[in-house]
Amino acid sequence: MCGIIGYVGPKPVVPLLIEGLKRMEYRGYDSAGVAVYDGTVLHTRRAAGKIAKLEAVLAANPVHGAIGIGHTRWATHGPPTERNAHPHRSADGTISVVHNGIIENVNTLRAALQELGYVFNSDTDTEVLAHLIQELFDGSLEEAVLSALTKVEGTYGLAVLSSRDAGKIVAARKGSPLLIGVGHGENFLASDPSAVLAHTRQVVYLDDGDVAVIEHDAYRVIDAHAATISRKVDRIHWDLAEIERGGYDHFMLKEIFEQPVSVENTMRGRLILDDGTAKLGGINLSHDELLRIDNVIITACGTSWHSALIGEMMIEELCRIPVEVEYASEFRYKNPIVSDRTLCIVISQSGETADTLAAMREAKRRGARTLGLVNVVGSTIAREDDGGVYLHAGPEIGVASTKAFTSQVVALALLTLKLARKHNLSVVRGRELAQAMHDLPAQIQTVLETATVIEAIAEEFKHATNFLYLGRGYSFPTALEGALKLKEISYIHAEGYPAAEMKHGPIALIDDQMPVVFIAPHDAVFDKVVSNIQECRARHGRTIVITTRDEPALKGLIDYEIRIPETVDMLSPVLAAVPLQLLAYYIAVKRGANVDQPRNLAKSVTVE
Ligand code: G6P
Repeated sequence: MCGIIGYVGPKPVVPLLIEGLKRMEYRGYDSAGVAVYDGTVLHTRRAAGKIAKLEAVLAANPVHGAIGIGHTRWATHGPPTERNAHPHRSADGTISVVHNGIIENVNTLRAALQELGYVFNSDTDTEVLAHLIQELFDGSLEEAVLSALTKVEGTYGLAVLSSRDAGKIVAARKGSPLLIGVGHGENFLASDPSAVLAHTRQVVYLDDGDVAVIEHDAYRVIDAHAATISRKVDRIHWDLAEIERGGYDHFMLKEIFEQPVSVENTMRGRLILDDGTAKLGGINLSHDELLRIDNVIITACGTSWHSALIGEMMIEELCRIPVEVEYASEFRYKNPIVSDRTLCIVISQSGETADTLAAMREAKRRGARTLGLVNVVGSTIAREDDGGVYLHAGPEIGVASTKAFTSQVVALALLTLKLARKHNLSVVRGRELAQAMHDLPAQIQTVLETATVIEAIAEEFKHATNFLYLGRGYSFPTALEGALKLKEISYIHAEGYPAAEMKHGPIALIDDQMPVVFIAPHDAVFDKVVSNIQECRARHGRTIVITTRDEPALKGLIDYEIRIPETVDMLSPVLAAVPLQLLAYYIAVKRGANVDQPRNLAKSVTVE
């Protein structure tokens, strides 16, 4: 979603802003812009579409300066046009603002400003901020921003520049991530650490309510009353190479192929084979507290919600504790039943998804213990949860989540193992599961070696207009995830269904044109799925079957087979997800789609 970059220092600012914006392109956006102070006036350059368009605008009409702010916008209020792109300027042209989030009382503020004679040039909520700050300006930019924020309801990560109080960027955060990149004789502001990593590893994550004043040789974080507050400097531990494509055509493909390593990293130091259990240092739950858990709620969005469904099955099967899975966007508004014996597991790759964060806060407010399964270190969910399990999957850049999903399932398996052994899972069964987890990275490697088979299947189906994905038990959430991957990046309509439930609707769609992907490992429900494959074949559906061994029962039922290794039932989604990711990837590439930045989607959805 929207990205913010800012720079104050001795270097020419435009290339730095453009580079920062490009590092955040993966988040998803539809227009971009920069504001630069040249020592006399503020200049704005903006363009609808990709950053290349903005570069063309800058080439035709250059600006120079050593302080500036930049933005990639994902449209909420008004279409993605040049006039709605950020930065937005105040009426007198002395204030420039970029903003992530949503101003909820925009209509009231706009009307009040119009009364005072302000004329609006865009459909955005952000423009009210620019005029409001101008209206309240009395010599100090930070004071004007603080005063404006007392009138604003909603969420924001914002950066403000003024020609009347030059040499500084004022930033503020409420609900939308921001960090300061601390340099030597220069400082940065960004909504995402990847935007500053080429220049500094030292970052200060802002908390909600923080306002920051950033100059070339100093920065300050202040509260709503302008009192200085101290925020610690964190270090980014990952490398730039991890956010580069490294020879792959797309980030998504790189991330699919990284899964033997990312899954290994999720388990590193945590799996105890001899005891058949897991060590999870960050969960902050004592032995007694683990045993006190009466019920579990797992909340998440998108792909993370699919891994939550798998977690539900694992925990219920092995720990015999009731689990509910809730879309974060629904959970937060539904008066949920939560007690102080509820464990609320919050799953998020980015750790910034607005609904997931709000759901976690709601669960906490109602007395639950919260446990974050998060990939991005230092993200808001990771900082606000009561305990956590980092995925350690490494940066995920492709909008369609791949390696984060498999790491989430593995993290859930680690947690289940630990919890189940505290309850009454035998050491023998625990060892079996731990060994199966240990074997996963090598098994994923085997699946990756079938990529050419999957590419050939993709060639066959690249013109399909609909796809059905069917599975039962642990393979049902996998079917949902397979369908989501395909629709996200290829724009082919795809639905995931419990295989037997297809008889209650989707079967009407099946004809000799309809590709139906069955996820059918040899697990507890294999025989049942075979019956469903037969039902599909009887209607001439074209079957693509992911299975684990030669099976007479499948003879004559399969048009295209993808073989994956056998594992225990609960881990089969980790292996079955990989060919589904590859199938979606190859189909999308063959259709000429922008795989890493699919239209309308954002990597991290920081608005409700
Ligand atoms: C967006 C992304 C999805 C992701 C979902 C949840 O929709 O495009 O890939 O699964 O958000 O994101 P999270 O970071 O909370 O896992």
